Amino acid sequence: MKTITVKASISYNIYIERGSIKNCGNIIADTVKTRRTAVITDDIVDGLYGKTVTDSLEKAGFSVCKFVFPNGESSKSTETLNQIYTFLCENNITRTDCIIALGGGVVGDITGFAAATFLRGLDYIQIPTTLLAQIDSSVGGKTAIDLPCGKNLVGAFKQPKCVICDSDVLSTLSDEILSDGMAEAIKYGMIRDSRLFDLIASHTLENVSEIIDDIVYSSVSIKRDVVENDEFDTGERMILNFGHTLGHAVESYYNYETYTHGSAVAMGMCMITERECAPEILEKLKNCITAYRLPVKCDAPVHELLKLCSNDKKRESGNINYIVCREIGKAEIKRVTVDEFNRLMEGK
Ligand code: GLY
Repeated sequence: MKTITVKASISYNIYIERGSIKNCGNIIADTVKTRRTAVITDDIVDGLYGKTVTDSLEKAGFSVCKFVFPNGESSKSTETLNQIYTFLCENNITRTDCIIALGGGVVGDITGFAAATFLRGLDYIQIPTTLLAQIDSSVGGKTAIDLPCGKNLVGAFKQPKCVICDSDVLSTLSDEILSDGMAEAIKYGMIRDSRLFDLIASHTLENVSEIIDDIVYSSVSIKRDVVENDEFDTGERMILNFGHTLGHAVESYYNYETYTHGSAVAMGMCMITERECAPEILEKLKNCITAYRLPVKCDAPVHELLKLCSNDKKRESGNINYIVCREIGKAEIKRVTVDEFNRLMEGK
């Protein structure tokens, strides 16, 4: 088993091992004192891994209750959050117990937010089951729910007690969900690790399973380094937003229906690279993105995307921070006025 330790406001381990989901009970028993836990998951993940996780927890001596909600972003809502709170109350979960997020980004984000707020905070464990959740959302303690007026608008920083990553579970993902995560892996290569980028670029969606362990380990290591330096997202952590300023605008323009987050980020990385970087960097990026069946071009009018960028929650009083990679493996944070950003993107 590979272990990556994150030294943030609390220290915690990320365990990376094939098959570890079957042994999650023992790992969690070694991490927390309580032997009472609630598993929070969605209906698709429950069908695939709910019983494996519950059996493993019970074998390790836990009493387990489970809350299952419908799969999908629309569940990351105040309604589901209220149902989770009610479920935790009804099952007498106390501040010394822990809750477990079993699933992708939606499950991890809402469970983390419930853990940050229920009884003013209790421990939680992440068992991420998508590539995106393993390499990004389960690590670093960002938790949130969506509001009708936007994604992730209510949230908290709450680090998990541990993260259990089993790359065997990635074999049940559809191509679309795997591609979604690959956009974030390509992002890690672009911002911090040219070796990782070259490795990813020398494979395709068809044979990426051969290198998936390396991708998970390398990506999580980069995320760990960034989070340790800037847990609360006031500086260096912004580099993780490469492709996201425009990517969020693309997702929002299409009402979060047409493109996955990863597809939108892929387009966002290409758009900013096209404006700011040498053509050979753009070509390498586009070839890599295409190999993972992600889009490189967006049909939405630029001026519509720019209106949405200026509503982005990462905007700061008239300024926009965005990330460029003039070399593969190196990211720069740029801060410009909204007007300057608009002129850059419109090619004026
Ligand atoms: N997903 C970006 C971050 O964790 O900061």
